[in-house]
Amino acid sequence: MSARTREELARWARDLEGKEPAEILSAVTAAFPPGRVGFATGFGPEGCVLVDVAARARLPLDVFTIDTGTLFPETYALWNRLEARYGLSIRRVASATADAPVADGAAPPWEADPDRCCELRKVLPLRAELARFDAWVTAIRRDQTADRAGAAIVEWDERFGLVKVNPLAAWSSADVWRHVRAHEVPTSPLHDQGYASIGCAPCTTPVGAGEDPRAGRWRGRAKKECGLHARPVALRPPTPTPTPTPTPTSTPTSTPPRSFARGGFILWLTGLSGAGKSTLSRVLQAALATERPVEILDGDEVRTYLSAGLGFSKEDRDTNVRRIGFVARLLARNGAAAVTAAISPYAETRNEVRSLAERDGVPFVEVFVSAPVAALAARDVKGLYRKALAGELTRFTGVSDPYEPPERPDVVVRTDVETIDESVETILEHLRARGLLRPGDARTAEERAS
Ligand code: ADX
Repeated sequence: MSARTREELARWARDLEGKEPAEILSAVTAAFPPGRVGFATGFGPEGCVLVDVAARARLPLDVFTIDTGTLFPETYALWNRLEARYGLSIRRVASATADAPVADGAAPPWEADPDRCCELRKVLPLRAELARFDAWVTAIRRDQTADRAGAAIVEWDERFGLVKVNPLAAWSSADVWRHVRAHEVPTSPLHDQGYASIGCAPCTTPVGAGEDPRAGRWRGRAKKECGLHARPVALRPPTPTPTPTPTPTSTPTSTPPRSFARGGFILWLTGLSGAGKSTLSRVLQAALATERPVEILDGDEVRTYLSAGLGFSKEDRDTNVRRIGFVARLLARNGAAAVTAAISPYAETRNEVRSLAERDGVPFVEVFVSAPVAALAARDVKGLYRKALAGELTRFTGVSDPYEPPERPDVVVRTDVETIDESVETILEHLRARGLLRPGDARTAEERAS
């Protein structure tokens, strides 16, 4: 198949023109040996649509994303949501470049030389990754840029030396959003905040009404491609010189890049009474507070003030959890890390809180603080399990009232078998992987102890 001639490809492209993306992807995956078709997504709405199409048709695509390390927290959250929704894994391909420390006063790499930065962060890792495939699927559309206008449904990729498949080439943006709505495909909450095309956080700004959707990329520069989809110079059709239209309110200086390390988020600890949520929250606060304010919303404390008077019926617990979610969202929206430590026994209510947070663009991390009832009853720090088991306390979670463990928590810690520091490290690792915490930004166990 790798010897497929250009003429054959052109004929195949003509045959596939006008076909549905599912049909195109199905033809392509059938034409190559298993594992030889990759799909690179950057989590734009088009990519999310193709994930949806591929997942529902159960097509054997190797889905991956290049993690430049500078993506928006919302992009990392969307990555998780897509995996959870479709039950698939979107493989992380890391950029090889760890950022060298930037000297005081020196411009970061994306400002000093954005082309080089894209080359190192995206193009080189992609080139290395594509070596394992015969064909790669992309989510580009013809009407996105002049460079993309000539994209065929299947074509030879001169730049990377394999077949390139563009199932959405003929689609408009309206077609994409129609599919998103019809199939409730998860997309980035940043689109509701004026972001159109979303790349790395430092080089992406929102666009104003009437602006080209890619105007927010590398704002103020002629650059509009990271180089993944640019055609080799010799084949490039004559393109008008893009005319950037920076305005005083839309230059990079007046719309500063979002600082992904300092943004707020919600760390939602859920688990039985006595499982260690409060202890974990305090240690996490000590670990995280180097970079941003950290506030704890603890069930016991909240019930003294915000939720005074509420009991333990399902309705009261839900009200309590919704209140905690509301305050956590306000805090996180303003740059704090909100750590919650309430049993929050009902999955649907936790999911509701998560949706509201994500709608606001607040990353939400659900941590299941897991320990068996038997172990907690044996430890019984507050003496409540004894009372509950003796029937002196009604509706006690885990004994006489339900606890619904999260089906797809972001993190699970096993406090019956792990030390606190081990559990905290697992959580910090996840925050780093999500881009919510920069490597090295949390206090270590030794620093916390001293
Ligand atoms: S939640 O269900 O509404 O999320 P929350 O975490 O705020 O609960 O409060 C639970 C705390 O209240 C427990 O850690 C325990 O100390 C105390 N408590 C008293 N009665 C109960 C009960 N019936 N069930 C669970 N916790 C109880």
